[in-house]
Amino acid sequence: MADGDTELEARLVEQEEFEPSEEFVAQANVSDPAVYEEFEENWPDCWERAAEMLDWDEDYDEVLDDSNPPFYEWFTGGKLNVSYNCVDRHVENGDKNRVAIKWEGEHGETRTYTYQDLYREVNEFAAALRDLGVEEDDVVTLYMPMIPELPIAMLACARIGAPHSVVFGGFSADALATRMNSADSRFLVTCDGYYRRGDPLDHLDKANEGLDGVDHGVDATVVVDRLGDDGFGHDLKGNQHDWDDLLDEHAGERVDPVQRDAEDMLFLMYTSGTTGQPKGVKHTTGGYLAYAAWTSHAVLDIEKEDTYWCSADIGWITGHSYIVYGPMALGTTTVMYEGTPDFPDRDRLWDIIEKYAVDIFYTAPTAIRAFMKWGSKFPEQHDLSSLRLLGTVGEPINPRAWKWYYKHIGNEDCPVVDTWWQTETGGMMITTLPGIKKMKPGSAGPPLPGIDAQIVDTSGERVDAGRAGYLTVNRPWPGMLRTLYNNDERFIQEYWQEYSDVDSNDPDDWVYFPEDGAKIDADDYITILGRVDDVINVSGHRLGTMEIESAIVGVEGVAEAAVVGGNHEVKGEAVYAYVITEEGQEEDDQMRQRIIEGVEDAIGPIARPEMVVFTPELPKTRSGKIMRRLLEEIANGEELGDTTTLRNPEIVESIQRQVEDE
Ligand code: WTA
Repeated sequence: MADGDTELEARLVEQEEFEPSEEFVAQANVSDPAVYEEFEENWPDCWERAAEMLDWDEDYDEVLDDSNPPFYEWFTGGKLNVSYNCVDRHVENGDKNRVAIKWEGEHGETRTYTYQDLYREVNEFAAALRDLGVEEDDVVTLYMPMIPELPIAMLACARIGAPHSVVFGGFSADALATRMNSADSRFLVTCDGYYRRGDPLDHLDKANEGLDGVDHGVDATVVVDRLGDDGFGHDLKGNQHDWDDLLDEHAGERVDPVQRDAEDMLFLMYTSGTTGQPKGVKHTTGGYLAYAAWTSHAVLDIEKEDTYWCSADIGWITGHSYIVYGPMALGTTTVMYEGTPDFPDRDRLWDIIEKYAVDIFYTAPTAIRAFMKWGSKFPEQHDLSSLRLLGTVGEPINPRAWKWYYKHIGNEDCPVVDTWWQTETGGMMITTLPGIKKMKPGSAGPPLPGIDAQIVDTSGERVDAGRAGYLTVNRPWPGMLRTLYNNDERFIQEYWQEYSDVDSNDPDDWVYFPEDGAKIDADDYITILGRVDDVINVSGHRLGTMEIESAIVGVEGVAEAAVVGGNHEVKGEAVYAYVITEEGQEEDDQMRQRIIEGVEDAIGPIARPEMVVFTPELPKTRSGKIMRRLLEEIANGEELGDTTTLRNPEIVESIQRQVEDE
């Protein structure tokens, strides 16, 4: 843990409270407060309630197998198929004409898939994948923007038992290659391009460059033609296939859903950690889907009759759990939007909500801060009265932004659920149940029923109400990651070691550490204070400072670099890079530009440094450790803490002057 011994400063939160309306409570999926006790008294069997939301081909023998912590297993012995649960059963149960996906492109074109349409296309693409040689347990990489073919490909993979690894479309070619190499993935589904702020973007060029960096052979690539006449005229190579041609070839084919063990891998999702190497978080079939479905039902209050919209990108975990798997397990209508919220104008999202009469809207605080900055006149141009519930995820939301969202989007009528969770947790962990609990802006809320989250000090003792500490999760849950792909050791090191007795076989001795700081109040409401490791949160995207540093050090002429997160009005945090150049290297704007490009090439534009500061030295402790805390304080223009333990205190002032001058 970075600066593990520094006391976290608890942020001041106004303790204002809001109650859900009687009207909301009366219709809520979960509205009996006894649910908390029921889960507590009946743990872990309480999770059968989640498993019962799914159709199983074979019943499970045991809810939880905790004989080998932290390698917990859920619903062991059970067999099911995720694509059957998200598609077929709705077709069979009389909902075949219900809209599954309502998609809108950036230019306003729309596509509508009923569950029947989805069933047809998922089957045809599953047949195509098989024909290309994809076998059960082969990892298929999906490198795509927000187009309907992405969820279709995910469901087709799930149908044939091939785990997918979705790589966010905004990531660079290098990032794609790293992930394909790490997952030994020999299959890729991608597209020619997509639209951003009105212009076509070449995606296949990036994908091809990434493929060049894959160490093992690639058996086949499927390319969706998204741009049509706006395309960049790439010819497909020998093992590259056009999506539409494949579907034509397999028109009308049906593929039986493969029975998967509850504990079989459903997907990998790479995320940033404390080292330069992204971690392949492994999620499984039964526990993950049950958890995504249950939280979609209980927290997002989704019913199949709803039109539900999560504005995240499917390239992140939020899109996996709450655009695709949770909502589709419930058979609802899920909205997908390809583009940016300010194209052609800053009312685009409100226009979509009005047009489709969206009932439930789930977004990120960084977006809400941008909406707030743009002003309430944009939502005011639209009728948002269809909305029933609002949600946020990804980073702490300050009470001001919360209240703006509640008032200007929800018309003070819709409960707001502030949902804390992670790629690793698979689904929501800490938030209010909207039909039961009051809301406190800025505080995520209590742990969900069945979840045991605590705030502890460095020795693992619970802290008193009002005090800051570290968040821990003290019991397993069905949606949890099972391990890091091919790396059980790192799994233990990253998430368990800090607070567990790693030699023990008693589950009570195992504590999951999400690496977030938090505080708790007298009502058990948890306020998340942010990451305590070397991960920063830019616009709700997790980035490892080490990953960015190694990209910068890879630029010719750079000797050393330190990256920290500085506060940013809209993005939450922004990347600040402090760079030492090699002797004789000019420290000019050209060099700055090369550094920025280096980061964009290695990771993607989301990691682009906000500021590059050249310095002859970095502030270091006598033992040679970079004092990141100081670099953060400088980035934030804050008063500097203690500098006396530094080996080179004089450097701090000179860096500070430079940042102020920028
Ligand atoms: C942060 C996104 C405060 C937190 C689902 C966590 C939050 C990291 C919240 C996970 C929230 C997520 N309030 N902080 N409601 N939700 N976070 O893996 O630091 O992309 O550890 O998963 O985002 O980010 P990830």
